[in-house]
Amino acid sequence: HRVLVLNGPNLGRLGSREPDVYGATSYAGLVEQCTALGKELGFEVEVRETNDEAELVGWLHEAADGSIPVVLNPAAFTHYSYALRDAAAQRTAPLIEVHISNPYAREEFRHTSVVAAVASGTIAGFGIGSYRLALRALAEQLPD
Ligand code: DQA
Repeated sequence: HRVLVLNGPNLGRLGSREPDVYGATSYAGLVEQCTALGKELGFEVEVRETNDEAELVGWLHEAADGSIPVVLNPAAFTHYSYALRDAAAQRTAPLIEVHISNPYAREEFRHTSVVAAVASGTIAGFGIGSYRLALRALAEQLPD
């Protein structure tokens, strides 16, 4: 299986961005970890990041059209982007929402996800490990 790991705004700055919240691993490190675990699980993983809502929406259309499973960290878009929610709703393969931090333990505005209801499931609060757990969840969801 091909798998897209899609990241929203500010996640390209992992490692230097609020390391107390998001950890010390750089974005390059995240890409490496996802690719390596993906290989182990028999996936061909492609990791992307963008600060641009339109680009992220376009990637979700691509995933829908190609029936490509997705691991999605919508970042701040999680909390207010109905456009992203509507794009994710068109999915034809599993889509796992991930968060590095636990949004429910943070500010009130992070307690709502407009994406969660159209995801297969959500994994949050395990640091970069949330992505590894999401890839493993996909491996269980997908027939060989
Ligand atoms: C995040 C949580 C969001 O609230 C925040 O806007 C992010 C990252 C996370 O991975 O913990 O940018 O999605």
